[in-house]
Amino acid sequence: MKFTILGIETSCDETSIALLDVNTETETGVPSVHIKEHIVSSQIDIHAKYGGVIPEVAARSHVPETVSLITSVLKKNDPLSTFDAIAVTKGPGLATALRVGIQAAQTLAWTSGKPLVGVNHLEGHIASAWLVPENRERWVFPVLALLVSGGHTELVLMKDYGDYEVIGTTRDDAAGEAFDKSAKLLGLGYPGGPKISKLALEGNDQAFNFPRPMIHDVSLDFSFSGLKTAIRQEVERIKKNGGLQEESQYPIPDTQYPDLCASIQRAIIDVLVYKTIKAAKTYPVKTIALVGGVSANKQLREDLADTIKRELPSVHFLKPDPSLSTDNAAMIAAAGAWHVIKGELDHWEELDAEPELDLGL
Ligand code: KG4
Ligand code: ZN
Repeated sequence: MKFTILGIETSCDETSIALLDVNTETETGVPSVHIKEHIVSSQIDIHAKYGGVIPEVAARSHVPETVSLITSVLKKNDPLSTFDAIAVTKGPGLATALRVGIQAAQTLAWTSGKPLVGVNHLEGHIASAWLVPENRERWVFPVLALLVSGGHTELVLMKDYGDYEVIGTTRDDAAGEAFDKSAKLLGLGYPGGPKISKLALEGNDQAFNFPRPMIHDVSLDFSFSGLKTAIRQEVERIKKNGGLQEESQYPIPDTQYPDLCASIQRAIIDVLVYKTIKAAKTYPVKTIALVGGVSANKQLREDLADTIKRELPSVHFLKPDPSLSTDNAAMIAAAGAWHVIKGELDHWEELDAEPELDLGL
């Protein structure tokens, strides 16, 4: 099977469109995939002003961007011949934001007569690791995905394409949210992950001993809200000790940032790595995939790789290209391709946003 699939992603604060060439008729049987076109237009600068994503603002910003990006990736004189199938994120995400992408996809499906598939955004994140050519060869089931993003922290057991079981999840904040909320407490702005990880580079991660919530709990679940409380208390303590320059825009002295950020990052990573290894041993898996926005974190990538090598040497460790860790349409097109290959298509009239969609239900 050879086809070009158009991917559309508008679930949160990135508008993204991709064209992916997929060929399943290869000598090895491992599909070849080529990202032909890919544009990601981020609204981060718009939302940074508010300290987080404002749903109504996100949806309104997607409207002109979606039209403009779609028209720029399709052939000018024969746009509907550019693709053979359409994949669009149907959920989870912000309802009105999702609907912008879905309506564009429905219009294209209706006018072109080409098949349409609604994609679970979380499945898209898993597929982001499949976009790396060497990873496709080492994609051996069962795969355990540690899916860490701004909205989700899940350990997903993937027994086959489309066959998911969530074996661990967060009871409160997601890992990305823990980074974002910590950064907010430190006056660092949104999104927090990249800011904290950059400052952490120069810091001592043992300087502060933040809690590792639920690390020794019997379940594979996570909890990050206690960490936030501990950071708030530490910030108050540092403030009381003084030393802040009067004109500073930050709540605490600059010198405290590297050690604080390194210690926060260490607490989050320790829990993620510990629970992933525990899950991989409980459900003997052949492959571990680290995906979602937080998978862009270099320290997490290194620590998980080292621990897997040491404790589970026969298990493959896969991760996306860091540029495809955060939301993008190439990963949605890739997950869409899995469904097209299996013949699982949607009727365009029936597709609707599913803001609360999860995996494995
Ligand atoms: O997957 P994503 O783009 O959006 C959701 O589906 O939620 O993930 C965004 C999240 C944000 O919370 C952001 O702070 C976090 O990913 N993130 C990072 C890094 N880059 C992005 N967290 C830690 N380290 C990073 N380098
Ligand atoms: Zn995402």
